[in-house]
Amino acid sequence: GITRHYKFDIKLQNVTRLCHTKSIVTVNGQFPGPRIVAREGDRLLIKVVNHVPNNISIHWHGVRQLQSGWADGPAYVTQCPIQTGQSYVYNFTIVGQRGTLLWHAHISWLRSTLYGPLVILPKRNVSYPFAKPYKEVPIIFGEWWNADPEAVISQALQMGGGPNVSDAYTINGLPGPLYNCSAKDTFKLKVKPGKTYLLRFINAALNDELFFSIANHTLTVVEADAVYVKPFETKTLLITPGQTTNVLLKTKPHFPKATFLMTARPYATGLGTFDNTTVAGILEYELPSNNSTISHSAGSIKKLPLFRPTLPPLNDTSFAANFTKKLRSLATSQFPANVPEKVDERFFFTVGLGSSPCPQNQTCQGPNGTKFAASVNNVSFALPMTALLQAHFFGQSNGVYTPDFPSTPIFPFNYTGTPPNNTKVSNGTKVVVLNFNTSVELVMQDTSILGAESHPLHLHGFNFFIVGQGFGNYDPNKDPAKFNLVDPVERNTVGVPAGGWVAIRFLADNPGVWFMHCHLEVHTSWGLKMAWIVLDGKLPNQKLLPPPADLPKC
Ligand code: C2O
Repeated sequence: GITRHYKFDIKLQNVTRLCHTKSIVTVNGQFPGPRIVAREGDRLLIKVVNHVPNNISIHWHGVRQLQSGWADGPAYVTQCPIQTGQSYVYNFTIVGQRGTLLWHAHISWLRSTLYGPLVILPKRNVSYPFAKPYKEVPIIFGEWWNADPEAVISQALQMGGGPNVSDAYTINGLPGPLYNCSAKDTFKLKVKPGKTYLLRFINAALNDELFFSIANHTLTVVEADAVYVKPFETKTLLITPGQTTNVLLKTKPHFPKATFLMTARPYATGLGTFDNTTVAGILEYELPSNNSTISHSAGSIKKLPLFRPTLPPLNDTSFAANFTKKLRSLATSQFPANVPEKVDERFFFTVGLGSSPCPQNQTCQGPNGTKFAASVNNVSFALPMTALLQAHFFGQSNGVYTPDFPSTPIFPFNYTGTPPNNTKVSNGTKVVVLNFNTSVELVMQDTSILGAESHPLHLHGFNFFIVGQGFGNYDPNKDPAKFNLVDPVERNTVGVPAGGWVAIRFLADNPGVWFMHCHLEVHTSWGLKMAWIVLDGKLPNQKLLPPPADLPKC
């Protein structure tokens, strides 16, 4: 591999959407941010310089960061934030990965405007396990707030209620024609007839899982979270925040006398309020240049009929479950599925929303005057004032974290029945400590305390295999017999189904501190997060390397 250099100047930029102009935090003045392109095996040196008043950190979502945990990026987990006027060089090598990932800010709600595609091409002269596409196009979903998202979340946390939802979804930063004052801000995918396009979808939205579809076209899914999957056809994609999906789009063989809308809107269960608007882009066939009968002027294209896709209903959990079932690893000799067969340690985590008592002399806007909280095994995770990874590496855990994260719920109940009044949620900075190369099985159970809701759980530093999932309460006596250990999909973010559970396996072969959290930013803010510490192994290539000299200080 080669070394590739990027520079991210974090600066304010005026951006107008929905007729609202505001100053937002950007990378190099771009919104969405720049695309990073590398090949498998390359080293990336990305210098981030902070020119804004906010503290900054950037996460390379889905990059394994083998031995390079200092470059992972979540603020107060692997690093202290980069303060105003300071800089930090993220230094890491892409090992054994190729596909679509993303980068985003990992502090407060700054990823609402600081995000972009991270495209990893195969090594030179290595081809895809499918025919070479004519063209590749990253398509990144986001959300737009007319207000300042940072202010939206800090106000919500102070009041103990839910934050205001976004004003629009975006495709490559553009809300599209279904919003007021937005027709000129529409993403257009221009294609030629009879070609195959590789579309690299990324969900960088803060708070919503999305359905996506293109009118009158079928999509062939070939990769999820930068791992190839067995190809399958679908009219609609489901993609949670933090997930990526590559699809092949075969265009119609001949120039069609129509244009086609592509739309995305949420998949949402549970009781929360959410933005239920629809973002649209346009799939436009370019006129064949040798065709003299159709005029080349843009005016004639506008007159073509416009077809609109149908998306599943907002809460279509059975569509979601069926879509997820179709995702399978390729599991070929070239791309094997290395599912851990034996398990060294088992964990059972409840993930869900709840509430905690309203602090004295405060009025809270959560249910019955309580304060919204979210937890894993009844622990609502609190970020420390210094970075966990530094505390771990220098043996200074005292007062920063405790190694007593519960491996099963502190307070078990019937997770899909009537919830108890008090689920005994407590705040803490608790972690699980794993020996190097521990083979882990983790079952995550959604709880229905505030209405069953699907939670996209993201694990830093690893890919995991999704060996099982189901609805209702997980049954440790019956369910493991149905696990798929042959070709389960391998990814870094999994939707824990509303009113159900998911079982994953991973090998703890990456020393460091690894964050795990719901990728719905509002749930992370409420505490649906925790961390794993993986200890060094004995060999030199099994140890976390020392921190770089420019690692930011708190
Ligand atoms: Cu994409 Cu911890 O995040």
